Amino acid sequence: MVAISGCAMNAAKRFLGETNLFIVVYYSVKRQSLVIDCCGDAFMFAGMRNKKASQSPAGTSTAVEDYLERILELINSKGYARVIDIAGALKISQASVTNMVQRLDAEGLLKYEKYRGLILTAAGKKLARRIAQRHKLLTEFLRLLGVDDRVIHHDVEGMEHHISPSTLRAITAVTRQLQRRPSLRAQLQAGAV
Ligand SMILES: [Fe+2]
Repeated sequence: MVAISGCAMNAAKRFLGETNLFIVVYYSVKRQSLVIDCCGDAFMFAGMRNKKASQSPAGTSTAVEDYLERILELINSKGYARVIDIAGALKISQASVTNMVQRLDAEGLLKYEKYRGLILTAAGKKLARRIAQRHKLLTEFLRLLGVDDRVIHHDVEGMEHHISPSTLRAITAVTRQLQRRPSLRAQLQAGAV
């Protein structure tokens, strides 16, 4: 199940007659899915149905995605990623990181050498970039709704793992509309406080 705050929900539940843009976000207990309804077209986190909470729609575990995301961030900011840096970023023990890094190495997502750090393989980079892109888009979307940055960070870290490609496309379309409509943004942001 995706974690989305009441604040984000309230920000998205708006009917704006002036602009005729109608956005409703709700969690369907029956369907066990997060549904985003934009202008009458409902987009559902289809990938969430009948999935274990620890798996993304692509079948990758959320833990793997979190590791790859942090590793890419470290490489982009520092030029390298070491076990100690990853442990600090994820706030877990170095022993746990070492185990996971060895697993990711075995799965062909990175190359790990004990005293020389690690590098992402092409497959690892592709997955890491995909999650980073989802993180960026969802952050942008919630920020345009006027949601608080701390709430955004919390919600996006959950949503980014479970969102389906069709919902992501819908959110991308809504985000582009919001970027083009400052008056609509102002109304949404006023309601999100
Ligand atoms: Fe993230």
